Amino acid sequence: MKNKICLVTGATSGIGYITALELARKGAVVILHGRNEKKLQVTQKQIAKETGNSHIYLLQADFSSLDEVRKAADQVNNDYKQIDVLVNNAGLILGSKRQVSPDGYELTIAINHLSPFAFTKLIFDRIAASDDGRIINVASEAHRAAGPDFEDFNMEQSYSGFKAYGNSKLYNIMFTTELAKRLTDYPNLSTYSLHPGTVATNFSASAGGLTNLVFKLFRPFLTSSEKGAQTSIYLASANEIPARSGSYFINKKPAKVKHKFYTEENNVKLWEVSEMLTGEPFLSDAVKVSG
Ligand SMILES: NC(=O)c1ccc[n+]([C@@H]2O[C@H](COP(=O)([O-])OP(=O)(O)OC[C@H]3O[C@@H](n4cnc5c(N)ncnc54)[C@H](OP(=O)(O)O)[C@@H]3O)[C@@H](O)[C@H]2O)c1
Repeated sequence: MKNKICLVTGATSGIGYITALELARKGAVVILHGRNEKKLQVTQKQIAKETGNSHIYLLQADFSSLDEVRKAADQVNNDYKQIDVLVNNAGLILGSKRQVSPDGYELTIAINHLSPFAFTKLIFDRIAASDDGRIINVASEAHRAAGPDFEDFNMEQSYSGFKAYGNSKLYNIMFTTELAKRLTDYPNLSTYSLHPGTVATNFSASAGGLTNLVFKLFRPFLTSSEKGAQTSIYLASANEIPARSGSYFINKKPAKVKHKFYTEENNVKLWEVSEMLTGEPFLSDAVKVSG
């Protein structure tokens, strides 16, 4: 990974931290994204100390706000000529009370789907400058519990923390598949989504209540962050990925996406809704050209 520049979102904890650590150990220049400046500085020191790699840089942005996503993208575009690997890893599950982002969107969908969609679009030219650019989206098997509805995308009529999370993770997978389709003019680029396992991280803390309690009780039986990060690290660093761009991975192997909402038509519709809600048209011509 020497001379590769990898950007890992949500690198201050759990799976993202281990992904960043191992990419740094492989010699990559690593940009750590997180929302908390102090945590970022501590993480930077830890990774530099543990790997001996001093090329660890920071990017602070709270992905609940699209303004912050735009500022972070400006910083990336100003500071780097190319990004070889983007790991869209930042994400969370929230509790039983529906919350809204500063832009007016249901907060789980805003953080887990709309922000990575916008961020990927806004730094896309930098990824396209790589001769082997990869966009890796950390999704989840929780997508099976999704119950999405384009008529109620913001979940005003029907909200639960787990359903919002499931929807957001299904959107990560749908985004990846549709992105691969739109990358036909970019043979140098590929994209994958993945499920990391059920991993003992800080992930459930923001959910509070029963979800957090159950997650804490089962913690001793869950996968470690070290194991949970393996598929992200593999997709970011393997010389060749023997699967089609757009594939969904579990345990470093392509896996089937099982949800009736996962259709070509809905993937296109999700893309268009995401463009509209973020105000960021993204590879729109690619579809018009390919019909
Ligand atoms: N753990 C699991 O069992 C599991 C299973 C399937 C999929 N996943 C996915 O794996 C990814 C990583 O989760 P994890 O389990 O490693 O959880 P984690 O330990 O809580 O790490 C999540 C990371 O995302 C960051 N983040 C959260 N909200 C953010 C925001 N608004 N703006 C910017 N950054 C934000 C966190 O920052 P802070 O450090 O400041 O909190 C942290 O760096 C997520 O996308 C999650 O959906 C996890």
